[in-house]
Amino acid sequence: MFKVIVKDNYDEVSAEAFKVMKEVLDTEENPVLGLATGSSPVGLYKEMIRDHKETGRSYKNILTFNLDEYVGLPRDHRESYWTFMHQNLFNYIDIPDENVHVPLGNGDIEENCRAYEEELKKHQVAIQVLGIGSDGHIAFNEPGCPFDSVTHEMPLTEQTRKDNARFFDGDINQVPVSAVTMGLASIMRAKKIVLIATGANKADAVYGMIKGEKTTDCPASILQDHPDVTVVLDQAAAAKL
Ligand code: F6R
Repeated sequence: MFKVIVKDNYDEVSAEAFKVMKEVLDTEENPVLGLATGSSPVGLYKEMIRDHKETGRSYKNILTFNLDEYVGLPRDHRESYWTFMHQNLFNYIDIPDENVHVPLGNGDIEENCRAYEEELKKHQVAIQVLGIGSDGHIAFNEPGCPFDSVTHEMPLTEQTRKDNARFFDGDINQVPVSAVTMGLASIMRAKKIVLIATGANKADAVYGMIKGEKTTDCPASILQDHPDVTVVLDQAAAAKL
């Protein structure tokens, strides 16, 4: 079930997403957090850092699981999702590195996927943060990905590589061709989901997710079957609803 909230700008969208996160942090003892990378959740992470500094909220006993990681980038690459999460959240809160889980995009990929899913399955994710791709992907589950998928390697579409070239000097050739990603079934196990989308280039995907047919052509449409999804949008992303 979707609860859709539309705000006027990115700061308001981030503050609203933080309200959903805060309720979980306030009511659950040491909740397991599912986290995303990309532009959409950066404002939410800023709110979490502000809250940590202002209220002293501790993340010492909190576990996090990230959605995905590029295949082939070393962990310390400036655009790896490991680096992104440290630069945008982990370095500014008191979470110990051993509590942080980001899929490994190097070495034996199949074994990494199996091990990640096994570890993830031991826990109940209390809240999963999501963005959405302009092609309807969530995590890196691209169109056509089966709804029963668990952590796996996914080739990235041309559209996704174009969208993400902005992080790689605008050069699509530098964008990795695949990623390790939680599957759609892995994501659906989360108790609660907060999905953030802003900008006109997300409007079609947001429409497909909420009002479209439930189909693997729009992977996010699987969320129609989830009992608790809050979607926080700006006007541009909500324009086609
Ligand atoms: C990132 C992820 C992706 C992004 C999506 C939107 O961990 O899983 O699904 O959420 O590509 O990216 P942005 O927010 O950069 O528009």
